[in-house]
Amino acid sequence: MHQLRCLPNQIAYLAPLGLEDLFAERLAGKPHLRQERLFWGAIEDSLLNRFASNIWRELYEIEFDSISDCAKALTSLQRSWWAYMPAGSSRASYIQKALPHVGAKPVVFTGKPMVYPPLGSWRLLDDHRVLASPSCSSPRPNGEWIFAEDRAGPPNRAYLKLWEAFTRIGVAPQKGEICLDLGASPGGWTWVLHQMGAHVKAFDRSPLRADLMQAAGVEFIEADAFRVDLSAYPEASWLFCDVICYPEKLYEWVSTCMVPSSIQYAVCTLKFQGREHYGVIDSFAQIPNGWLGHLSQNKHELTWVWSRLPQGGSPTAEAAWG
Ligand SMILES: C[S@@+](CC[C@H](N)C(=O)[O-])C[C@H]1O[C@@H](n2cnc3c(N)ncnc32)[C@H](O)[C@@H]1O
Repeated sequence: MHQLRCLPNQIAYLAPLGLEDLFAERLAGKPHLRQERLFWGAIEDSLLNRFASNIWRELYEIEFDSISDCAKALTSLQRSWWAYMPAGSSRASYIQKALPHVGAKPVVFTGKPMVYPPLGSWRLLDDHRVLASPSCSSPRPNGEWIFAEDRAGPPNRAYLKLWEAFTRIGVAPQKGEICLDLGASPGGWTWVLHQMGAHVKAFDRSPLRADLMQAAGVEFIEADAFRVDLSAYPEASWLFCDVICYPEKLYEWVSTCMVPSSIQYAVCTLKFQGREHYGVIDSFAQIPNGWLGHLSQNKHELTWVWSRLPQGGSPTAEAAWG
């Protein structure tokens, strides 16, 4: 017979692949437990909240007798579960198979917001104990947004960032809308926007891939992104910025040039080198109506999404928005 033990005030962070060291450094000196990319304890941390792939917000430790007993304990908390399990753990696989089936096929990008049911996460600690959370920040298995990829069309894999951002934030450019794409070359983001029927003005010092340079509805403008005069584009509703620059420079430009302009929505990548630029994260977070988080496609980056309307004007937007 299983026993459920609630772990009050404790949470677990699942670090993105490649950012485990950031979590370990940040939590050094704070009592916590760790298994591979999973860190847990009384460790709530505003920076890690931004970078985590998944946050397990309501922790339980469950002691159980058998595989079916474990499945029973988990489903007493909620219906759907996904294991964060080490490769080759057959006991964890058997427990997952004893739980209700969860569809985990790659997401097919439609450009429309998707609503997913809640998904709990669990981890086998030893043969008779699991760590589990029925409430997690992400509705996707281990917080990973995996898409059915287009391997022929886009010039690089950067397009996946926009697919993920639009799917998660619940808003996306509509056909005919005008989008400014700063730091656009070779054109992954421009390709997405063009495919969605938007008109794209793409700014960079380097050209786009040849076919995008010729595409109807795409205009390439050779320019320094931070010298673009937004008042010259009053009809533009979306702004995208994937320029490689210090995040402080991006913040300065966003707060002084973009927010006062007539742009309605923005998607910008904050690119970090080392740990010394994290201070600016709070500045971005304080701009009203923003969403700031780590996309599965982000490396040592965060993505900031902003809307002039609260929550992007979308009732289906991700809860973290705003
Ligand atoms: C990460 S790449 C952008 C990738 C692009 N979003 C895509 O989907 O293909 C960064 C781009 O920023 C451009 N860049 C860097 N500094 C710039 C500046 N001050 N003005 C314009 N473009 C700049 C680089 O030339 C480079 O093409």
